[in-house]
Amino acid sequence: MDKLKMHSPDLSQDNIAKIREMFPGCVTEARDEATGAVRLAVDFDQLRQELSDHIVDGPQERYRLDWPGKREALLLANAPIAKTILPDRKSSLNFDDTKNLLISGDNLEALKLLQSTFLGQVKVIYIDPPYNTGSDFIYNDDFSDTAESYLRKSNQKTEDGHCLVANTEANGRFHSDWLTMIYSRLKLARNLLADDGVIFVSISDEESANMKRLLDEVFGEKNFIDTIAVEMSTTSGPKTVNAQQGTIVKNVEFVHVFRKSEKFDRIRHTPLFDSVTSFDTHYTAWLNDDGTLSTLAEKMREDNLVGRDIEQYGFLNRNAFSVKSIDRLLSVSDSAKEFIEKNLEKIARLDRPPVSAAGQSTALGHWKDFKTDHRTYYLTTLENGTLQALMPLSLNYRMSDDYKPKFGRTVIRGDLWKGFYQDMGNVAKEGGVSFSNGKKPVRLIKQLMKWANNTRDGIVLDFFAGSGTTAHAVFEANAEDGYNRKFIMVQLDETPDQKSSAANEGYETIADLSAERIRRAGKKTADGECHADWNRDIGFRMLRVDTSNMKDVYYRPDELKQSDLPGMVDNVKEGRTAEDLLFQVLVDWGVDLTLPIRRETIKDGSGQGKTVFFVDDNALVACFDRGVTEDLVKELAGHEPLRVVFRDTGFASDDVKINVEQIFRQLSPTTEVKSI
Ligand SMILES: C[S@@+](CC[C@H](N)C(=O)[O-])C[C@H]1O[C@@H](n2cnc3c(N)ncnc32)[C@H](O)[C@@H]1O
Repeated sequence: MDKLKMHSPDLSQDNIAKIREMFPGCVTEARDEATGAVRLAVDFDQLRQELSDHIVDGPQERYRLDWPGKREALLLANAPIAKTILPDRKSSLNFDDTKNLLISGDNLEALKLLQSTFLGQVKVIYIDPPYNTGSDFIYNDDFSDTAESYLRKSNQKTEDGHCLVANTEANGRFHSDWLTMIYSRLKLARNLLADDGVIFVSISDEESANMKRLLDEVFGEKNFIDTIAVEMSTTSGPKTVNAQQGTIVKNVEFVHVFRKSEKFDRIRHTPLFDSVTSFDTHYTAWLNDDGTLSTLAEKMREDNLVGRDIEQYGFLNRNAFSVKSIDRLLSVSDSAKEFIEKNLEKIARLDRPPVSAAGQSTALGHWKDFKTDHRTYYLTTLENGTLQALMPLSLNYRMSDDYKPKFGRTVIRGDLWKGFYQDMGNVAKEGGVSFSNGKKPVRLIKQLMKWANNTRDGIVLDFFAGSGTTAHAVFEANAEDGYNRKFIMVQLDETPDQKSSAANEGYETIADLSAERIRRAGKKTADGECHADWNRDIGFRMLRVDTSNMKDVYYRPDELKQSDLPGMVDNVKEGRTAEDLLFQVLVDWGVDLTLPIRRETIKDGSGQGKTVFFVDDNALVACFDRGVTEDLVKELAGHEPLRVVFRDTGFASDDVKINVEQIFRQLSPTTEVKSI
């Protein structure tokens, strides 16, 4: 019976396997001198011949982003880890039914553990990593430690949690450490993104240029979509003094947007609209019901109330009023505003006609309908004989996507996202928890998802979750449009700064604060007005990254002492539960971590009860109890599961162990049988 690996995948070996698919002759097997294990290895001499002269080698000049530690970062990203994620039912909400995950732990480890399960599954990644401002980022990729204990041990933090050393510019590796940290994570994150997926990365000007180059490298320059400038503050308060003294103060942050592949472009993205108060003076035409054309100015002059206001508000000669001065009139006349809004379908501007309208014409000063491509156009012919389309003002009037949405004239938003300083004024209150480390507005993430329009019921991942704004945005977006997006949040189990309100409020870790925000945000969203199609999944499975459930002997059975009888040594660490083992098996086998889990006690032939887990009925069946009999094995085979797993030392006798595979081959031949 094959044993599960119980460690995250070795991504270097996976990469070599990909090379083998293309160039089978370039991959061979070689003995690793350090461990003695035989592994796949690339025969570079052979590969060189395949690629003829098109190779950059040695010190030859080339275009690339480089820094001390880049190689290390790649090794770090690809190396397997013997870790797991343990379920924490107590901190979860609706553990058994939810499809959402909150993972507490280092995201490098979490991303590794998610590789098999979520490969190519994630539709949207939003991250808001430390900006490397000199105080928000401490480099720590010591896998066996949490940031906190690492900092204590390396004397960077006192016992009471006070931070002594951050990544300051005086550190010679200021940018390099930050790049190393983010590079390895982006490499792993890319594997999880679906082909029609997109990643949004928030960043400020400190590392924006480096982040862009890094994303170019990881996702490919051709997959760069845009850099959005988000107006996060205005020049007010203390910034005014600096500005008065000649400083260019910061008002914007950036969001770099990259797609996984061109498949993302096949989706129709949803434009966002900003309201504008000024009137677009191109709208001069008026479509009369009888098919003739007038001008808007004429119609306003003729209207009793509007005409009166034109005179009353100093436009002296009513007959000279033209749309050039319409903004002035609209700023004082409610009648004029009402008149415009009542006649959105009649007021129009000239535009190019659709190609399919070629050959059409109208009488001078007249308009007519023209239906094409499931749309109706209004056509007219100008004095010089050219055909034009008349675009009604109604196409331009809608609810805006502003902080306070308004119905009115709008413009399509480009890559300048204005007005988010208004959200920032209220951001501290959003989600009902205080978090001072760069909390982002819910609207920002919601609108990024809305624009991408690729999620529907897909997965949204944020592996620098902070207070969990992305989860909150998923709830609100689902409540509005009725989709059933799911989220995976990852947040370091970092102790909040002693002076922070998070510490005052008693949160042991930032991940616990994220959990609380998700609980509050979910309840508030579900209590409000919700789309009928939303499944109202406001729960989450809390999982914690921890050391493997397996003792070292599991990974190095050769080191067993002569006196230890094989099969008698328990290879599971003390204190780990059967459900802990189940989750490590799910991770290892790449089974969805959000599937429903049923626990049953099944009596074997001797009448003894054994605990059996059924994951999504038959996706995986697991029994980690001891004394498993042939009867029980037969009963489980009767369920015809896709996968079944037992504890290697869990069988009633050696005979049962030997017969397990035979029993499954007879009763359920498609079941994969493994042990731990
Ligand atoms: C700028 S904050 C994100 C704020 C978040 N967007 C919000 O709206 O609340 C960055 C977060 O990343 C977390 N973080 C930093 N390094 C991490 C790591 N290696 N693994 C997981 N989380 C990490 C920090 O603890 C911090 O909470």
